[in-house]
Amino acid sequence: MSDHDVRIYEVGPRDGLQNEKEPIPTDAKLRFIELLADAGLREIETTSFVAPRAVPQLADADDLMARLERRPGVRYPVLVPNERGLERAEAAGADALCVFTAASEAFTRANINMSIAGSIDAFRPVLARARERGWWTRGYVSTAFGCPFQGEVGEAAVVGVARQLIDLGVDEVSIGDTIGVAAPRDVRRVVEALLRGGIAADRMAMHFHDTRGTALANVAAALELGIRCFDASTGGTGGCPFAPGAAGNLATEDLVYLLDREGLTHGVDLDALLVAAAHVSQTLGRPLSTKVGQAGGWRVP
Ligand code: HMG
Ligand code: MG
Repeated sequence: MSDHDVRIYEVGPRDGLQNEKEPIPTDAKLRFIELLADAGLREIETTSFVAPRAVPQLADADDLMARLERRPGVRYPVLVPNERGLERAEAAGADALCVFTAASEAFTRANINMSIAGSIDAFRPVLARARERGWWTRGYVSTAFGCPFQGEVGEAAVVGVARQLIDLGVDEVSIGDTIGVAAPRDVRRVVEALLRGGIAADRMAMHFHDTRGTALANVAAALELGIRCFDASTGGTGGCPFAPGAAGNLATEDLVYLLDREGLTHGVDLDALLVAAAHVSQTLGRPLSTKVGQAGGWRVP
């Protein structure tokens, strides 16, 4: 998918917006997605085919997906929790999906009303059908660094769930710090355990929420360990409605600035990305809270 050093997997239209209380017009979401593609993003998680009652903000998924003007070379994955979601995604023209479970039982129950084992059973037919159709697939392992209900989460639980998702045939797993509690030492502990558990670095993405300001430090630690795919949300919005205390994702603009200064290529243009971030700010009617969104890139005098 990418000739660059690092893949930036944009989650703004999905994770970024899913927890917003005021309804956002579908047109504004579609414009956001266009601006993200204009900025060079090639993987844009677009929406979720979940129960509309669970996530009212994304209840327009069918309409949005059907109206999406797809650009060649851009992947538009959607979240799918069950066969019903797959049918909707298929009817709306999707061709890339993410299933999502977690490393803690309590969060999995709160989020998708399943046990972890039950979620794996639910995903089996979904992923089998997606594979038959040639779709790209991803599996999320949430609460990999901490659970809002159970507290600390051991790395063995993360490896166990990631392994089961890989065995079901997902192209990659995304390891989620759902409530933003990890620091680099946790990243090393979990990623090293995943690598020892036989999950290659190129089948892993890291999904950091920046609740406590540690997301960029966590990216730096993951880069050292050979991880090359990072989830991020333009404008720094985000959070799971079923994870009390969750706040915004790592901001894509902050990630892009770091990668640029590190000399790592990723294909995203910071100035164009800030146009997309400004659109988020305008749509939500509040100023951006992200560092680079406020300061801009560095214009060397
Ligand atoms: P349930 O209540 O156990 O399921 O929900 P159910 O099968 O009894 O269905 C309940 C109702 O939902 C029924 O409607 C179903 O028809 C309907 P009713 O008869 O009451 O009118 N329904 C659906 N409607 C549309 N599309 C569907 C669908 N499925 C059922 N696919 C369920 C179980 C999984 C459906 C529900 O709990 C759900 O949708 N949860 C989604 C939660 C969610 O989206 N969370 C946020 C994403 S995860 C996240 O943010 C973390 C992540 O970013 C990584 C990280 O940060 O760690 C990915
Ligand atoms: Mg998330």
